[in-house]
Amino acid sequence: MSIRTVVTQPFPDQKPGTSGLRKKVPVFQQAHYLENFVQSIFDSIAAPQGATLVVGGDGRYYNREAIQIILKMAAADGFGEVLVGRGGILSTPAASCVIRKFNTFGGIILSASHNPGGPKEDFGIKFNSSNGGPATETVTDAIFAKSKSISSYRILDAADVSLDELGETTLGTMKVKVIDPVNDYAELMASLFDFDAIRALLKSGFRIKFDAMHAVNGPYATEILENRLGATAGSVMNGIPLEDFGGGHPDPNLTYAHDLVEIMYGDDAPDFGAASDGDGDRNMILGKHFFVTPSDSLALLAANAASAPGYKQGLAGIARSMPTSAAADRVAKALNIPCYETPTGWKFFGNLMDAGKVTLCGEESFGTGSDHVREKDGLWAVLFWLNILAVRKQSVESIVREHWTKFGRNFYSRYDYEGLPTEAANGVMQLLRESFTSLTGTTFGKYTIQTCDDFSYTDSVDGSVSKNQGVRILFSDGSRIIYRLSGTGTEGATLRVYLEAYEADAAQHHLDAQDALKELIVIALDISELVKRTGRERPTVIT
Ligand code: G1P
Ligand code: ZN
Repeated sequence: MSIRTVVTQPFPDQKPGTSGLRKKVPVFQQAHYLENFVQSIFDSIAAPQGATLVVGGDGRYYNREAIQIILKMAAADGFGEVLVGRGGILSTPAASCVIRKFNTFGGIILSASHNPGGPKEDFGIKFNSSNGGPATETVTDAIFAKSKSISSYRILDAADVSLDELGETTLGTMKVKVIDPVNDYAELMASLFDFDAIRALLKSGFRIKFDAMHAVNGPYATEILENRLGATAGSVMNGIPLEDFGGGHPDPNLTYAHDLVEIMYGDDAPDFGAASDGDGDRNMILGKHFFVTPSDSLALLAANAASAPGYKQGLAGIARSMPTSAAADRVAKALNIPCYETPTGWKFFGNLMDAGKVTLCGEESFGTGSDHVREKDGLWAVLFWLNILAVRKQSVESIVREHWTKFGRNFYSRYDYEGLPTEAANGVMQLLRESFTSLTGTTFGKYTIQTCDDFSYTDSVDGSVSKNQGVRILFSDGSRIIYRLSGTGTEGATLRVYLEAYEADAAQHHLDAQDALKELIVIALDISELVKRTGRERPTVIT
């Protein structure tokens, strides 16, 4: 077996976005495309000779081919060992768990998260560091810089490695260890939550439905919920992972997880419903005929954290991404712990968790997690909820309503305008930035704009500054409108408009969020000239 040096030319478009490099599969299938990016990672991370790497993905189309290439390149680059999930499978939180548990140098995760999969759909790749979390911006910038000047890569000439049986093989001088993708993660969950209490709850007739959306969490949910916790067979639906997610859009929200939503809003609905996304890090929580917004879910988990053995000792702090509602801030205040507001993307939570400043983190985009790993974690959130339900013995809806009565309700909604012409989307953002001065102090009905800015974040641990993280229109009563361009899309531009209104009066808490936010929505469309500039009367998705 020999190491081959292959001459290549840079691709100009390998800039990692919010969560790694995401492109359509045919882009990744171009000669040298994946190889260039992998070599750029290896050249930027400076792993010592003989280091251990974790490799796995969400099983989408091109996962297996990509893993073979990465293994051969890792062998050529001097890695001593690669841990790879059986079948090339590791959910994103499980990869983070394995990276940490075995003190490895880091890992390469293959996923395009909640984006569809298939020969013409999305694929993605990212590097996670030894803390188990996505590489910092300094590292991703270095990878991008390298990708622009790369002239060759190294790869081992070798046959493909079989990934379907547990055990060890070698590739040149490098060990390849195929590990059970579920076991280490399941053990971590059992150490955090009261499995006995959850088992008793499920035995008592409490019915659950978990929609794995034909994505990576199928085997994780089946093992943990059905096999270890005794949920009745069939509690996990769409549990077989498919390369194209069954043609669906593996994003757990009210639009895309429609099978589950129909069940949870139907006659004889189960008591608890949940779904997770393509790579298992997102979650949606439902009660019987009831939807829990992700922002509320974070606040609820924080307020009830003491129910779970892993969090009994208290929380160091909470962090939420800027567009996420301020519901968690109110809980942090009541608990007398700090609450941090970070830019969108899980990578900004890593430093805070490593420094012991926060325990729980969350994003409005159906992401919640804690310092048990350095990624958001879909099944973790589900187990946390089940633990709380087992202790409180109330319905999901009554727990949430009690929470609102105590803390007030942050009405919340996000409007996504997907696949816009890039110029039109940039035009909306530019107009808003130019209007900061004229908007400040303006009154629209009951709302007065107090300040506007482009969110800038200074990391309290390493002092790094991230600018232009979203336009904020802040109202005097605490309501907010945020505009942001997505950093994960692969086609055109996606403009996200986030709307939040706080309501202390419990008599108003029964309102539908869209009704409660009606006025803010009109303002949001008006001041951005969104309809005129994009030609879109309606958003593609409302969450
Ligand atoms: C989206 C979400 C963001 C999340 C990211 C990765 O990014 O909005 O909260 O961290 O996916 O799951 P965006 O497309 O908005 O850049
Ligand atoms: Zn995801």
